[in-house]
Amino acid sequence: MEDKVMTKVIADSDGRTSTGIPGLDGMLEGGFPNGSLITLAGRPGTGKTIFGSQFLYYGAVEEKQPGMYVSMLEGRRAYLRNTARLGLDIPPLEKKGLFRFLEMPTLTAEGLPTIWEEIVRNIEEMDIVRLVIDSYTAMAQAFETPGDIRVFTHMLLGKIVGSAGCTTLMITETPPQDGHPGLGMHEFIADGVLHFHLVPVAGDARVRYIEITKMRGTSHQMGPIPIEIGRNGITVRSPHIPGRR
Ligand SMILES: Nc1ncnc2c1ncn2[C@@H]1O[C@H](COP(=O)(O)OP(=O)(O)OP(=O)(O)O)[C@@H](O)[C@H]1O
Ligand SMILES: [Mg+2]
Repeated sequence: MEDKVMTKVIADSDGRTSTGIPGLDGMLEGGFPNGSLITLAGRPGTGKTIFGSQFLYYGAVEEKQPGMYVSMLEGRRAYLRNTARLGLDIPPLEKKGLFRFLEMPTLTAEGLPTIWEEIVRNIEEMDIVRLVIDSYTAMAQAFETPGDIRVFTHMLLGKIVGSAGCTTLMITETPPQDGHPGLGMHEFIADGVLHFHLVPVAGDARVRYIEITKMRGTSHQMGPIPIEIGRNGITVRSPHIPGRR
């Protein structure tokens, strides 16, 4: 029994799902472990949505893997406008069944089971391989106590993410101050955690970087990874941060 479990774990960890971010796969032994759950954590405006969108777009265009963006925060129209500005032409992919934007209404704890069913139905209908959920924070806010959030998180991960087998990016907004005690637990459960930062350097300049603080079964880059957001979205810069020595 134990041997079987081990074999499965090893087999699953063999395959990698490309991040779709130029320069990043090489720092992760080729990408995210297939079927893993990755938390993208950061403050507003740090690049989480763009990262998730590039992840899905790359999979759909380069690998013909259907992807779905589940959004509790933003409507489809605004999403398509913003992604089009970054050169991500999503409508043709929607037509080909390679991309779905699932807009989820404001959440209450009572309404969540219906939303799960809807997410799972869409995953099965389209054979979704890559999933982005934006955001864990929005969902967790439907609950009042850390205990409820814990129960919900286990249900979410077990039933939805676990059984579907998609490689899933779960976006989490970092609070301005360390806030809700229950909100950090997704980091323990996730297979990988990427933190997004936007920090002031000399003068008025700001510098963006990401940091991989956890990636199960992977020898990954340690320390800050400088990134840039430009007309073509996120790219990894050479590992030197201006203004720092
Ligand atoms: N074409 C562009 N060129 C340069 N920077 C851009 C461009 N488009 C967006 N950005 C930057 O990316 C940021 C938005 O990134 P993104 O929407 O991924 O953030 P986020 O982490 O999802 O934020 P939130 O938590 O508010 O949803 C903008 O605030 C802007 O600084
Ligand atoms: Mg966002």
